[in-house]
Amino acid sequence: MRAAELFLARFGGPPDGVWLAPGRANLMGEHTDYNDGFVLPFALGQHIVAAAAGRGDGRLALGSRQHRQDDLEVAIADLAPGSVTGWAAYPAGVAWALREAGYAVPGACIAIDSDVPAGAGLSSSAALECATALALTELAGLAVPRPELVAIARRAENEFVGVPTGIMDQSASLLCRAGHVLLLDCRSLETTQVPFDPAAAGASLLLIDTRAEHVLADGEYGRRRAECEQAARLLGIPSLRDLTDPADADRLADPVLRRRARHVAADDQRVQEVVAMLNAPAGATAGTYREIGRLLTQAHASLRDDFEVSWAEADQAVEAALVAGALGARMIGGGFGGSVLALVPAAAGDLVRDAVAATFARRGWTAPEFLDAVPSDSARRVG
Ligand code: GLA
Repeated sequence: MRAAELFLARFGGPPDGVWLAPGRANLMGEHTDYNDGFVLPFALGQHIVAAAAGRGDGRLALGSRQHRQDDLEVAIADLAPGSVTGWAAYPAGVAWALREAGYAVPGACIAIDSDVPAGAGLSSSAALECATALALTELAGLAVPRPELVAIARRAENEFVGVPTGIMDQSASLLCRAGHVLLLDCRSLETTQVPFDPAAAGASLLLIDTRAEHVLADGEYGRRRAECEQAARLLGIPSLRDLTDPADADRLADPVLRRRARHVAADDQRVQEVVAMLNAPAGATAGTYREIGRLLTQAHASLRDDFEVSWAEADQAVEAALVAGALGARMIGGGFGGSVLALVPAAAGDLVRDAVAATFARRGWTAPEFLDAVPSDSARRVG
């Protein structure tokens, strides 16, 4: 990527350093993070790259290859929630959140480039926050532990940008390790790296960007959060994490709340099942991945029917992938647009792509994009 060239063109000199942060996919545990539950994401090989240089005048200057018309320069002291909108709100929000956390950020020029498809539900915004957070702290010589950076990046998104997400995406971008999925307990924030290497068992992970743009801020996400909180209140538990048996959701009189609670409890359980299988003493075999595939498809049905966050393109992509030989598939992320993750026997990769593309073409939908998902390393300095 060409963030350093962009920096040169935009700011007239070389950057002091180049940092990158990955997008993420989530193997299991959707809409569980803000319910204090479990998630199992991995970092992608696609990144946001930030080429940056420090400056001492307290100002933040931002440029982006993907948003050329929207350069921004502001005084960090003047930043307040709502003061910056559009893509620049994410990096500006990180400078604000660092300041709020008591870290002195002397100022910086940052040029951003990306190969994380935007709107595909792969957390390009969290990656943008995390790349900025690393660049700003390292330029200022601040040693901020990663878990604290996760919280700062999330605060930027929740309070500065105003999107009420959980903690999964920033955790994935800053804490994941290549060849692993990250088990994150969203209550204790304890993390465990779980070995995950489908290629060794003859399988691969395919991301299908359904090209139905997903918009998190459109209210449905916030509505789901509120429904989950209400369900927990009615059940007399601190959060849906504490509903250990999905059948206990039947105690809720309201059918909608019952379905929401059932999904969260069942998905938390599926995370534990996948982790137990991956950690089995015999190691993960082809049978393990077949079983994980079955759980993926089960999770999709739960997200579609109980949590009601799926969308037509995702449902059709899952169907077509399964018919063409995928071991399992499900929508990932917040829902209402974005991507499907399919676990595919290596030999069936082309068949699955062709089948999904043909299904979309038959319906006259925008052609889907395909991406090989390879569990990769988290954010780091690269130059
Ligand atoms: C979005 C949010 C995450 C998480 C997922 C659903 O990606 O940013 O915090 O809630 O939706 O699992």
